[in-house]
Amino acid sequence: MKSKILIVDFGSQYTQVIARRVREANVYCEIIPYSASAEAVRGMAPSGIILSGGPASVYQQGAPSLDPKILDMGVPILGICYGMQHVARALGGEVRKADRQEFGRTELEHTDDSLLFDGVPPASRVWMSHGDSVEELPAGFRVVAWSANTPVAAIEHRERRIWGVQFHPEVAHTEHGKRILENFLMKACSCSRDWTAGSVIEESVAHIAKQVGDERAVCALSGGVDSSVAALLVQKAIGARLTCVFVDHGLLRKEEAQVVEDVFKRHFHMNLIVVDAQERFLGRLSGVVDPEAKRKIIGEEFIRVFEDEAAKLGNVHFLVQGTLYSDVVESASATGRPGAAIKSHHNVGGLPEDIKFELVEPLRDLFKDEVRQIGRELGLPAQIVERQPFPGPGLAVRIIGDVNRERLGILREADAIVRDEIESSGANRGLWQYFAILPAMRSVGVMGDFRTYAYPAVVRAVISEDAMTADWARLPYEVLDRISTRIVNEVPGVNRVVYDITTKPPATIEWE
Ligand code: XMP
Repeated sequence: MKSKILIVDFGSQYTQVIARRVREANVYCEIIPYSASAEAVRGMAPSGIILSGGPASVYQQGAPSLDPKILDMGVPILGICYGMQHVARALGGEVRKADRQEFGRTELEHTDDSLLFDGVPPASRVWMSHGDSVEELPAGFRVVAWSANTPVAAIEHRERRIWGVQFHPEVAHTEHGKRILENFLMKACSCSRDWTAGSVIEESVAHIAKQVGDERAVCALSGGVDSSVAALLVQKAIGARLTCVFVDHGLLRKEEAQVVEDVFKRHFHMNLIVVDAQERFLGRLSGVVDPEAKRKIIGEEFIRVFEDEAAKLGNVHFLVQGTLYSDVVESASATGRPGAAIKSHHNVGGLPEDIKFELVEPLRDLFKDEVRQIGRELGLPAQIVERQPFPGPGLAVRIIGDVNRERLGILREADAIVRDEIESSGANRGLWQYFAILPAMRSVGVMGDFRTYAYPAVVRAVISEDAMTADWARLPYEVLDRISTRIVNEVPGVNRVVYDITTKPPATIEWE
């Protein structure tokens, strides 16, 4: 049986980071709410349990707590920050507001006989963020690490196989955090590194084949990495009984439809229907300038086109969606009730909740970087695996004001130059998104002996972790210079190039 770690979520902002670190060590893990019962946990047969940090204080009324029977199950446990304080208190120790709180980097020292710190130098940097401290240890525990302001920085009960760390091994600022987590996984829990791209593909394909049986499935392929990988996994499982529908709404970037057709039809021999729905979309968008109105029209029209195509296919029972694990975890916590049932999150092309298909969601257990890894393993080209996020409503929300063929043509050319220059210079490494925007105003310029009155092109390039906040990228001047020169020379209708140097917030990444 495969190794499995359960991560109990006490509400830390780092819970998903813990999960990613475990997966990076090639060990499968799942995040569960702290309200899970001991029976439910036993039923999941974990190799080990990690308790996350959290914003509460363990001595507060109503502070989140674990079913105490979980601590007696004999499964190895690692408590992180709040998780450690919770264990300490639950087993009879004392947690109080610390005399000296510690936030940020600090130096940690440890005993040389704890399995957790095996291979970690005697002094190393760790990341602390706590107002409370364990002041008295529960019976049978000992201190195995300390810092200047935190005398109880790590604890252990060897016989019960319970460990606790006050610092955050999951964050990059903790120098040897990876080693500490791996020591827990490998040495305490005896996990094997059996969560690999190859094994995920194999299991997923078997699972899909079983779920779909002899039925047929349909998938709305967008050309993004999620729907592409989901479609390939399903194709591997059911072959030609999968039909993919790619809707060309006329709001795509230069050559995008062509790439999708080349890759999926010609290379992967997929049953792919490319629907040229440009007229339909542009007709409905004509004269519409309000950003939300544009989104609504595109969303509705997308569903109509997709449903028309699905109806033509006849008897199709399943719909493939590229829902990711982060969507699943977020929609569960978005309900605000820890332990609430995890809901399905419909994120492909905004298909409605009441759609009459049964869902196949092969990426439900995966993080984005794992999806990319699987995409590579399946032979998807870098163009798709590394593709930057592209909004469903496409270029319509990057054209301020009226969306029409002429303005789409201008933006498409300018955007292709922005991408080409940033990618060929290597400046795209570390960028979240980089693209062009076409505003609804014109300015005066001069070309040869003639005065021009044309649009500016706006260049936007941002650095971000999750699109919630973003910083503008410090692109090299030479790259900006080449972008500017090429756009004004090669794109008729543009006589000026400007660079957006606004962070999010207060601006957003997109202009609409
Ligand atoms: P903003 O502009 O809100 O964008 O900072 C945050 C992220 O979301 C993407 N985005 C969208 N994606 N449909 C989508 O599928 C949309 O309507 C949409 N609007 C924004 C945007 O590209 C960025 O990554």
